Amino acid sequence: MKLLVFAGSLRKASLNRKLAKHIARTAEAEGAEVIYLDLNDYPLPIYNGDIEDQGMPENVHRLQELLKHADGFLISTPEYNGAVPALVKNTLDWMSRAQANGDSGGALFQGKVAGLCSASPGALGGLRSLLLLRDQLAKLGMWVAPSQFALSKASDQFHDDDSLKDDHHDRVRGVIRNVMSFHNA
Ligand SMILES: Cc1cc2nc3c(=O)[nH]c(=O)nc-3n(C[C@H](O)[C@H](O)[C@H](O)COP(=O)(O)O)c2cc1C
Repeated sequence: MKLLVFAGSLRKASLNRKLAKHIARTAEAEGAEVIYLDLNDYPLPIYNGDIEDQGMPENVHRLQELLKHADGFLISTPEYNGAVPALVKNTLDWMSRAQANGDSGGALFQGKVAGLCSASPGALGGLRSLLLLRDQLAKLGMWVAPSQFALSKASDQFHDDDSLKDDHHDRVRGVIRNVMSFHNA
């Protein structure tokens, strides 16, 4: 099973980047072929139809090509004001637009699987953003794994070398196994 893994934050010290890296390592250990993406490498303007009319940004097609050859993705997202950060929404919106060959970008999401995690210094760990992200991805036609993981008090949940504290490993593995069971279903 081939899975993309990415964080919904561009920040160097991002808690979600740390969690996404742990997710990527765990998914590999569980037997998935993993491509870890740093969205800093795929900068996109805020969606604007005029930009699209002038020519699709190359990074949209690069991201679409990655999704085209994957069975789905695992994401670790922050929560901003109870919702999904603009970065995540904007990236998904651009990716849903036409592919280089003219085919629908939305078709790239259909029938694929997503696993959701979040991390926040707060008590809910970004849980509310996952509810909205789940809904958004379902609207794109994805199967969203029922298991999800919101890492609360996340600033205290990583070691100095950025590795995730052991207490949480089972929860992350649970989400990944749930995603991978989709492949076997
Ligand atoms: C605009 C903004 C809104 C935020 N709203 C929330 C929120 O609703 N819930 C929450 O748990 N944390 C909220 N936070 C705090 C983020 O969880 C925190 O900055 C987190 O570290 C961001 O994720 P990152 O470390 O991966 O960059 C907010 C932060 C910003 C900048």
